[in-house]
Amino acid sequence: KEGIPTHYVQEINDRDTFVKKVEIVPLEVIIRNVAAGHFTLRMGVPEGTEFKTPILEFSYKNDDLHDPFINHYYALALGLATQEEIDTITKYAFKINEVLKKILLDANIRLIDFKVEFGRLSDGTIILADEISPDTCRFWDATTGAHLDKDLFRRNLGGEADAYQEVMKRLLG
Ligand code: TMP
Repeated sequence: KEGIPTHYVQEINDRDTFVKKVEIVPLEVIIRNVAAGHFTLRMGVPEGTEFKTPILEFSYKNDDLHDPFINHYYALALGLATQEEIDTITKYAFKINEVLKKILLDANIRLIDFKVEFGRLSDGTIILADEISPDTCRFWDATTGAHLDKDLFRRNLGGEADAYQEVMKRLLG
């Protein structure tokens, strides 16, 4: 509805979804609105610092190298994506951010950051090909700042199941 093509076709049951087959572009595309996670470690900026503008970041999807941080010149030089694909991915990523921020704020949730991946259909069309969930985003309660995402697990704080259910309840009613 918002002009971002996705791989989604149909939900079959709680655990299975039909999606379009793609060749994944080997980039983790991260958008950050507020400092957290690796950004705070890398840049020494306190967690919770709101950025003047959203940040787009690329990592190279490579487990052996632990998904290293790269810029778009790396992606071009290594043939991971073309300039046109990077432009499309960048446009979609910022648009996804705007759409998600609004949906979440209506549920009193702040979108701190998130990661998405994109894929190519057989004709080369770039589409969003990922889940969007508390596993792949940072969600903070807009009033209390409570974490409603995987950081509860990553930081061994507990309560992740309740937090995930809370996000689902707020979004789906
Ligand atoms: P980071 O601060 O650890 O780089 O994470 C930024 C966002 O990306 C955060 O919302 C979690 C998400 N993420 C993933 O979904 N998968 C990953 O492998 C990583 C490193 C981050």
